[in-house]
Amino acid sequence: MKIAIITGASSGMGREFLLRIDKEYKLDQIWAIARNQERLDQLSSWTTTPIRTFSLDLTDMASIDVIAQALAEEQPWVQILVNGSGYGKFGAFEEISMADNTGMIDLNCRAYVAMAQTVLPYMNRSGVILNIDSMSSFMPLPHASIYAASKAFVLSWSRSLNVELKARGIRSIAFCPYWVMTAFFDRANDKKNFTKFDKVYTTEFVVEKAMKCMAKGKRDVCVPGLYAKLLHITARIMPKSFVMWVWGKMQKLY
Ligand SMILES: NC(=O)c1ccc[n+]([C@@H]2O[C@H](COP(=O)([O-])OP(=O)(O)OC[C@H]3O[C@@H](n4cnc5c(N)ncnc54)[C@H](OP(=O)(O)O)[C@@H]3O)[C@@H](O)[C@H]2O)c1
Repeated sequence: MKIAIITGASSGMGREFLLRIDKEYKLDQIWAIARNQERLDQLSSWTTTPIRTFSLDLTDMASIDVIAQALAEEQPWVQILVNGSGYGKFGAFEEISMADNTGMIDLNCRAYVAMAQTVLPYMNRSGVILNIDSMSSFMPLPHASIYAASKAFVLSWSRSLNVELKARGIRSIAFCPYWVMTAFFDRANDKKNFTKFDKVYTTEFVVEKAMKCMAKGKRDVCVPGLYAKLLHITARIMPKSFVMWVWGKMQKLY
């Protein structure tokens, strides 16, 4: 049985990945993971591939055991893993609750790692691990410090993993979009800490670019969109202190 596994499949980019993978790949099942069962249940009305849903909180390591158990029972061939469950909280480090500061690390980092390690034994040549990362992985961001650091972790880990997996013909891609219009902002910017979003992409646009990265055999890093690519280059060549200064001015933080 050939499958794809998508975390964060109930909304935003994860859901868009599910819909595109359904259209572009011949799979026996797609496993969709997130907390909201109702929204997971809706997915099968839009797809032709059968959807198996898992309503799980991935900050709880017992949830990873549920996936491990299902994999052991079904013994599938996992062609794609999309690690997409994630969240951010904007605000000064000390103003964000400890539950959120550590929760971002649990979901954005620990759950990605645990899912990849659980799924890898079921991947063969041409398997892809697509980690939904972020432009913030390339730059420290005051007032989004833990979020950006969690994404920097994903970038570093994903790139190393990609090299380690090359001999097995498996790719690990750090997919690094700039702002994308999703429910992400309802949770991240609930206190309206950030006011300037210079460019906001649609989920359709960025996921289409990611699908092209996957289809073209791209590995390592995928940055969708020209504006995002220019920002990526700027963030790489400019001193990080300057990047943070520009960011602070843009968001009127100081
Ligand atoms: N939007 C942006 O501007 C942007 C830019 C760059 C990167 N990203 C990254 O993109 C990824 C997807 O976010 P999105 O923008 O598509 O936002 P989204 O629509 O809020 O999607 C987040 C997904 O994560 C799931 N999720 C949240 N908490 C969870 C938990 N504890 N356990 C399991 N699943 C959980 C949510 O489903 P449930 O609520 O049903 O659990 C949802 O499916 C995240 O990693 C985010 O950091 C976003």
